[in-house]
Amino acid sequence: MILVTGATGVVGRSVVKLLLEAGEEVTAVTRSPESADLPEGAKVVSQASDMAGVEAILIAPRAVGETIGELLVAAAAQGVKRAVLLSAVTVEYGGGYERFAAAFKAAEKAVDASGLEWTFLRCADFAANNLAWAPQIRATGAVRGAYGDAASSSIHERDIAEVAVRALLDSAHAGRAYALTGPESLSQRDKVRLIGEAIGTGLMFTEVPPEEVREGMLAQGVPEDVPDRMLGYLATCAEQPGPSTGTVAEVLGRPALTYARWAADHAAEFGGRS
Ligand SMILES: NC(=O)c1ccc[n+]([C@@H]2O[C@H](COP(=O)([O-])OP(=O)(O)OC[C@H]3O[C@@H](n4cnc5c(N)ncnc54)[C@H](OP(=O)(O)O)[C@@H]3O)[C@@H](O)[C@H]2O)c1
Repeated sequence: MILVTGATGVVGRSVVKLLLEAGEEVTAVTRSPESADLPEGAKVVSQASDMAGVEAILIAPRAVGETIGELLVAAAAQGVKRAVLLSAVTVEYGGGYERFAAAFKAAEKAVDASGLEWTFLRCADFAANNLAWAPQIRATGAVRGAYGDAASSSIHERDIAEVAVRALLDSAHAGRAYALTGPESLSQRDKVRLIGEAIGTGLMFTEVPPEEVREGMLAQGVPEDVPDRMLGYLATCAEQPGPSTGTVAEVLGRPALTYARWAADHAAEFGGRS
């Protein structure tokens, strides 16, 4: 049995699906089991307290929050063997506001101190963060964004999920910290162009001040910390592109998925046909 926290997130959902397809038993944690719309076959719970029979857990820091210490103590006491943590490249490469990297470092420290076997997945910015552009693309056919030249190797959630599944199921990945990125560094303008290609239209990127982007995101109802996370990291990437590694290819034995592929997979959300 594998326990997945953050099961309704872009990575968690994909991990649940892949584990079920592999014939594994899955317990999925969500605050709203009734409306979570998780695949049939997963045991859906509102708290990660009963871990009897659980071999490994996926830890999504945002979902677990302050309870990470409690969760790890309970996991170790109930015989869980492995923990896979969704961490961030900023732990290793810096970038963005230090407080966010510090929180990921603290999560890694807590997992290390738990005595469980661990694998840290230090992820680049998720391509899925760019779903924040979807409402304006659908409404206006354009993107008003900040730091158009900021470049990073955004990662497809499918790649993170596939690496996570390997690490959850196989102790060979214990003690490894994997810096996971997409295959190539692209600017924000490039990413908007590729989304346009995926939905069969030319999309314009208009540079606006970060403050306007922040206000727009908050008006969309995103949690308070999200604009600082994204804009802080973009400000760094405007000075120096985020890292690109070959780790996804090394672990999975196939190239990391491209941003163009990610855009095609999400075309419907941007108003195109998928
Ligand atoms: N986005 C990035 O660029 C990035 C980069 C590096 C690392 N990460 C890490 O990767 C992890 C996975 O990201 P993700 O986008 O798949 O999902 P996520 O942000 O972890 O969210 C997963 C689920 O957690 C629950 N949740 C969200 N906020 C919460 C809160 N404040 N308190 C309690 N539960 C909350 C929600 O589920 P329910 O409503 O169903 O409970 C949500 O669907 C994150 O935890 C993040 O720390 C993200």
